[in-house]
Amino acid sequence: MTAQITPPRGPEFARILSVGSYRPARIVTNAEICTRIDSTDEWIRERSGIVERRYAADDESVIDMAVWAAEDAIAKAGIDPADIGLVMLASITYPYLSPAAAPQIAVRIGATGAAAVDISSACAGFCYGISMASDSVRGGNTKLAVVIGADRLTDWFDHHDRTLAFLFADGAGAAVIGPSDVPAIGPTIWGSDGTQIDALGIGPSFIDQRNDPVANVPMLYMQGQSVFRWAVGEMARVAQQALDAAGITADQLDAFIPHQANNRITDALIRALKLPDHVPVARDIVTMGNTSAASIPLAMSGMLDDGELPSGGTALIIGFGAGLAYAAQVITLP
Ligand code: UT7
Repeated sequence: MTAQITPPRGPEFARILSVGSYRPARIVTNAEICTRIDSTDEWIRERSGIVERRYAADDESVIDMAVWAAEDAIAKAGIDPADIGLVMLASITYPYLSPAAAPQIAVRIGATGAAAVDISSACAGFCYGISMASDSVRGGNTKLAVVIGADRLTDWFDHHDRTLAFLFADGAGAAVIGPSDVPAIGPTIWGSDGTQIDALGIGPSFIDQRNDPVANVPMLYMQGQSVFRWAVGEMARVAQQALDAAGITADQLDAFIPHQANNRITDALIRALKLPDHVPVARDIVTMGNTSAASIPLAMSGMLDDGELPSGGTALIIGFGAGLAYAAQVITLP
């Protein structure tokens, strides 16, 4: 007779209990950026929406920022960190291939021994993490999970490259995920297009660098226009699918919090979704630049802290970037 395996059992629903953030202190203006690239404040504002961004200090690592954001979220949730069973770090800028950063973060936030894993889904990483953490809680494998998006992009681009040096910055955001009595995280619409590896990424490889250390320093590369076109076209469809899957219409939203890639991409998504004017939209990019995996929890945390969003309201989140990879879901705000 086939042995009977005891299946994991969990609560029917999961929710985001809290979000936290860490914003580095150093503000870098467009004027400072323009000392290194041939550009202007006006061009950067008009093409991206960015007015200023934050750069981490030399002694603020990806792990440090992740820990500070997670500690903020843990304090807001009022949970005992010893109850955290899963720590996920979404990041593409942790400068070691192994071991992963998440186990070190788990120790520092008081979740010693928790399952811990890094997610390399770039700007989609936070929404990937929300999906997997939610499923882990609902599946009964985790009581409480922490999903962190943390990136220190300033280590990984050429500060004299005018095609992208004005865009990227540093920061971290985090969410605590736990059980819920009611549905609070909708179905995830996620996917990838692995044919587009040339569109966005960090390369060449470390093996290439070993063979030619000077010529092959891994650096962020981006075909800005290709990514832009993909984002305004495909991501509009994905955002609508996430709404449809959750049974929510755009006018029922209390917030739209897309990845902070470019204000013009956000504007295009608003038009495609026919989002009513009264729905608050995240514009964190204006003061934070593009912080990759950190941008959604950073924006959400900032808007909640500032009282711009109602606790318990309904928000659409969507992350997209290198892979190319994307993920979107409708969530209940903590
Ligand atoms: O987070 C991950 C996903 N990443 C993204 O979503 C980024 C998507 N892409 C973008 O946001 C935009 O493509 C950028 C903001 C990066 C660039 O804006 P764009 O409107 O696509 O600019 P472009 O590359 O089409 O360049 C337009 C013009 C060109 O000049 P000509 O050929 O029209 O004379 C560029 O040479 O702007 C010029 N240009 C600049 N001018 C001033 C390019 N970079 C700069 C610059 N300052 N920094």
